[in-house]
Amino acid sequence: MFVIAHLSDPHLDGSAEARDRLRLVTTYLREFARPVDVVLVTGDLADHGAESEYAEVAAELELDVPVLMLPGNHDVSGPLRAGLTAYVESPGDGHPVHQVRDVAGARFVLLDTSVPGEDHGLLSAESLEWLSAVLAEPVTGPLFVAFHHPPNELQHPVLDQWILQSPDGFEAVLRDKPITALLAGHVHNGVSTTFAGFPLLVAPGIRSTAPLPFEPAAAAGLVDLTAPPGLALHVAAPGQPLVTVYRHLTSS
Ligand SMILES: [Fe+2]
Ligand SMILES: [Fe+2]
Repeated sequence: MFVIAHLSDPHLDGSAEARDRLRLVTTYLREFARPVDVVLVTGDLADHGAESEYAEVAAELELDVPVLMLPGNHDVSGPLRAGLTAYVESPGDGHPVHQVRDVAGARFVLLDTSVPGEDHGLLSAESLEWLSAVLAEPVTGPLFVAFHHPPNELQHPVLDQWILQSPDGFEAVLRDKPITALLAGHVHNGVSTTFAGFPLLVAPGIRSTAPLPFEPAAAAGLVDLTAPPGLALHVAAPGQPLVTVYRHLTSS
């Protein structure tokens, strides 16, 4: 059995509110009788991409298990690379911050779908070429492709403007590869859908939840800062389909 704790969008900004919401999740993980095999955080680690925010990310996510992180639209490559050297292993410098990480027999391809200065996501031709070469390598265990911006619309007038644009090339590169699941964040909702024939599993937003336009909380604005933070637990067992459990946590 291989268990991934999938976190997303902590948006740390130095505030007690953001920090306490992430701490609810990390405290919960520390209490597991069987520690998860890996923690994956799918972007919007910091809220403004500031150096001080990455110092906070590094401190708050110091756990006793491997922790993988990738950038979102709120992150900035330079400070992220400089502040998260213990977590991020990406060749080169600046943008994009792509990674290939092997943890306990599972492979994680961590893509940077961010576009500097923009909220939407996009993968350049060079990024797709890189991904294509990485996915051509043989793998024996579970293979996860993780990124911040999901390509699927939520039928939400605001969020749908900020999803991954021009996804056709991405879909073509992914299709028929031995991928276990695609893992994403960004839309501040726990979502289960499909893309390129694979499960696409989106972790809830730790910092906030974005209600769908017809939900009661939508009347108050784009994001609900009071909805409880959550995470996804992806459980992979040999010969079994991947199972995902979503949890939302309230302080006692
Ligand atoms: Fe976010
Ligand atoms: Fe985002």
